[in-house]
Amino acid sequence: MKKILLALLLSGTVSVFGQSKIDVKKEFDFAAKQYEGMLKSHPDYTKTPQSTNPDGSPRDMPTEWWCSGFFGGSLWYIFEETKNPFWKEAAHNWTMAVKKEQYNTGTHDLGFMLYCPFGNGYRLTKNPEYKDIMLTGAKSLTTRFDPKVGLIKSWNKLHQYNYPVIIDNMMNLEFLFWAAKTSGNQEFYKVCISHADSTLKNHFRADGSSYHVICYDEKGQPLAKITHQGYADASAWARGQAWGLYGYTVMYRETKQKKYLEQAQKIADFYLSNPNLPADKVPYWDFNAPNIPNEERDASAAAITSSALLELSTYSGKKGAKYFNSAVKMLESLSSPAYKANLGENNHFILKHSVGGKPMKSEIDVPLVYADYYYLEALLRYQSLTKKKK
Ligand code: GLY
Repeated sequence: MKKILLALLLSGTVSVFGQSKIDVKKEFDFAAKQYEGMLKSHPDYTKTPQSTNPDGSPRDMPTEWWCSGFFGGSLWYIFEETKNPFWKEAAHNWTMAVKKEQYNTGTHDLGFMLYCPFGNGYRLTKNPEYKDIMLTGAKSLTTRFDPKVGLIKSWNKLHQYNYPVIIDNMMNLEFLFWAAKTSGNQEFYKVCISHADSTLKNHFRADGSSYHVICYDEKGQPLAKITHQGYADASAWARGQAWGLYGYTVMYRETKQKKYLEQAQKIADFYLSNPNLPADKVPYWDFNAPNIPNEERDASAAAITSSALLELSTYSGKKGAKYFNSAVKMLESLSSPAYKANLGENNHFILKHSVGGKPMKSEIDVPLVYADYYYLEALLRYQSLTKKKK
């Protein structure tokens, strides 16, 4: 850590520590108050907070939905910051709400659904029940890994294709690395390496941006490179870039292999130097959306990217300052009234202005539960990095 701090000092990041407008305690005070309202408006644990419907009413989803673990995960982050047992109990209840998904082999999203709530809960409490649930979930997830293909299958079908893999799938690997370390079963580790290497080979373009979906044949050969949630097959869907950046940063953390660090940095550089990235560093929903600047922003992409860049900054030597400063700028923007809700508004979500799936006319310019989750995570990472400096 000393080396990282020295690199940040030498590269001028220090001044940012002093000047940043981010007040983590104040942001968590707000998050706690806002989420008190969310808890009151959600007495039923089978309806997990997701977003806002077009008519303005709260949009809730069942626990089978890929986002069901984010609310519990956010509650753990609030407990981590406040140390208030009220939040521990709320986090536990909303974490256990997702328990049955440990047996769900019909989705690839178990990293999000289980590791965000149970992983944070286990990190903070060491509750053995959380560990057992996650180990079962990790086994369920790896049923979707076909060794002949070498990747975890995302969806069972897309158009005429039987083995679609989306860049988002990189977000499962942190969960499987945890499972490998905790169980001692190296199969989990091998799945991570295989999935990350095949994705590295097939998912990226020369400029560091990624396709959204690669459809594979039964031997792991790509048949099609297409989009589902982006503007076009050849475009750079903003949240997809964020998932890739976060995923390869984790790959480097867990393996220390340079190729993964280089990929994470390539994605970061594509993102940060993109001429379509606005000055506040909150991207449009797709970097190539056709009507920029008259397109919706995606606060969720900025929140995920900010969190990933803060970690990447610690591995990146001199380049670290740029990543750190950009992450801070994103956090400042998200913490400003342009993106942060007023207390009691926004159906009790913290952030406004995210996009779920524009091509399918779903969740456009709305709050999204995972934008809040990665925003809170990034605030904690920022606090931890700046505290260490002091
Ligand atoms: N993983 C789905 C999404 O990012 O919308």
